[in-house]
Amino acid sequence: MNCIVTVSGKGGTGKSCVAAYTAAALAKEGRKTLIVEMGADSRSLDLILGASGAPFGIHDALAGRCTLFDATVKVEGAYGLEYMGAGDITEPPDTARMAEAIRTLKLDYDFVIVDGADLASFPVSCANIFLMVVTPDTLCMRASSDLARRLRGAGAREIRLVINSVPARIIPIEGAEDFDDLIDRTGAQLIAVIPQSPRLRYCANNSKELDPESLTVKVFDNLAGRLMGQRRHLLIR
Ligand SMILES: Nc1ncnc2c1ncn2[C@@H]1O[C@H](COP(=O)(O)OP(=O)(O)O)[C@@H](O)[C@H]1O
Ligand SMILES: [Mg+2]
Repeated sequence: MNCIVTVSGKGGTGKSCVAAYTAAALAKEGRKTLIVEMGADSRSLDLILGASGAPFGIHDALAGRCTLFDATVKVEGAYGLEYMGAGDITEPPDTARMAEAIRTLKLDYDFVIVDGADLASFPVSCANIFLMVVTPDTLCMRASSDLARRLRGAGAREIRLVINSVPARIIPIEGAEDFDDLIDRTGAQLIAVIPQSPRLRYCANNSKELDPESLTVKVFDNLAGRLMGQRRHLLIR
């Protein structure tokens, strides 16, 4: 039904973590959810989720080496969340074929979360929402406002802002005067503010589950709720 794509103007802002933990929260809410690793060079979702990959991935399916079904595996202990790895990109992905695959997947799932999409080949019109993951610093703010402009130019329907890795106290000299600046510069509505969390970093890098009672999990639960159209608080601390 819904295709959600994580993007950012700059690398390392936490796109893959946001994709993985949001997908897990949607699955926990009982939504049939698939998370797709679109970038072949930068595998990370399998590590974050502790998912063991299928022998094939989305790019194998796009090239006709397997079906979309063959490329999908269930993530153990994740409420039925399904995962599709990148597979082998031997030829540049074809936008029309990718659009067809996403349309097929959208018929099967409530949510298809796409991480690592190359916007040069990704069919922008297939995404219902772009989750733009930003960190509160000047470099990221500038890059994100450029990306938001490009996405809108390419026909993006909706862009929502996720401000990630927010320290308990933002020192003004770091650049982001306040969140209003980020919102104004990207022109995107805010959907979540995620605290900086050494625990999240540790868990994401070691395939460990987040503590279900933690603030971080509550923040992702609320992000998932908002994607489902519910009214949820913006938890910050
Ligand atoms: N809220 C956060 N607090 C602390 N570390 C984070 C947070 N979000 C992401 N990270 C860490 O930052 C690094 C980059 O995150 P990742 O999701 O791989 O970014 P991207 O996909 O944008 O490159 C990883 O080591 C991840 O664990
Ligand atoms: Mg990533």
